Amino acid sequence: MSEMMKAVVYKGNGEVALEDRPVPVIKESTDVIVRVTRSTICSSDLHIKHGTVPRARENNILGHEFVGEIVEVGDGVKKFKVGDRVSVNVETFCGECYFCKRGYVNNCVHGGWELGCRIDGGQAEYTRIPLADQGLTLIPEGVSDEAALFNGDILATGYWAASIAELKPADTVVVLGAGPTGLCTLMSVQLYSPEKVIVVDINEERLQLAKENGLADVALNPSKVNVEEEILKLTEGRGADCVFEVAGGKNTFEMAWKVARPNANVILVALYPEAQSLPLHLMYGKNLTFKTGGVDASACEDIMKLVACGKLDTSCLITHRAPLNDVMKGYETFENMADGCIKWVITPYERHE
Ligand SMILES: NC(=O)c1ccc[n+]([C@@H]2O[C@H](COP(=O)([O-])OP(=O)(O)OC[C@H]3O[C@@H](n4cnc5c(N)ncnc54)[C@H](O)[C@@H]3O)[C@@H](O)[C@H]2O)c1
Ligand SMILES: [Zn+2]
Ligand SMILES: [Zn+2]
Repeated sequence: MSEMMKAVVYKGNGEVALEDRPVPVIKESTDVIVRVTRSTICSSDLHIKHGTVPRARENNILGHEFVGEIVEVGDGVKKFKVGDRVSVNVETFCGECYFCKRGYVNNCVHGGWELGCRIDGGQAEYTRIPLADQGLTLIPEGVSDEAALFNGDILATGYWAASIAELKPADTVVVLGAGPTGLCTLMSVQLYSPEKVIVVDINEERLQLAKENGLADVALNPSKVNVEEEILKLTEGRGADCVFEVAGGKNTFEMAWKVARPNANVILVALYPEAQSLPLHLMYGKNLTFKTGGVDASACEDIMKLVACGKLDTSCLITHRAPLNDVMKGYETFENMADGCIKWVITPYERHE
């Protein structure tokens, strides 16, 4: 009989559960098995839970943001060995197809977002990582597991969003949403030397966190001020040079194009539960460029370097930390943004015999 472990399983119908599952084994020569040392709950896990990710499979183990130690490697794995500490990329990709060669790994013909969605993920004690040479990044000495925890998913997303925005030094940038992904977008935007960064959220605690950590210069709360007017005041009446929509609220798509100056880039990171309206007649003459998409997490080695030298630091995101035993409380707290929760970090399962 195979060895058993604890894992969080998507049961369908809005339900997730902590269950016993067999410890995974190598299936392909390009696989490795990782012992998960830190894992998280992501807003995308909630989207799966609530049935808004059609790709997701029922009875699959959740979790796509995690780090760990390699305990077994397939014969065909070239870059990694047993004992290596690694951060895991949200995307599984071949590195060789038309899209991978151009860095568009989200559209890899052999992968995309698989882990914790279509194949078993990292909210577990162990995980099998396919195409490991592409999907893992070595964590160097001097970088803790926790410091690299977000590299493969939300930090990769913020980094990717900033990288497609064509930012210039001295730009005024607006980021809508100061959730975990918004905060990662803010810290990635800072790499481009903006003059002014404005963050918008209805959650006052999150706005303060962004300001206290030097991620934004101005914080605007739409329930207290007229955001459009304030942004015009802050930009000599023009609007922002670049806007990132990372909130996904009812009115935030509209807010994104309204606060952008003519000829700005508007980067849409948020996933919406329903269609959005694009009133082109109202934005005629604004000459906006919209960019949308799922993250291409193809820059994880660069992200790791920036984490190692301290230019990217996600420690302010970690508000909660508890073993896999308590993960159901984690889902509840994270989902309700209760107790100031930004990120719930899952530590290994604890057995008390
Ligand atoms: N494109 C991608 O690959 C990708 C990757 C990761 C996350 N996302 C998406 O990015 C979005 C943000 O993710 P997150 O993890 O930070 O989630 P989150 O839900 O914690 O963050 C959203 C933030 O927006 C704020 N907000 C909601 N409605 C608002 C409104 N009307 N006005 C102002 N602020 C408002 C909330 O208070 C919250 O702080 C989600 O839609 C998520 O699905 C996309
Ligand atoms: Zn995620
Ligand atoms: Zn590919």
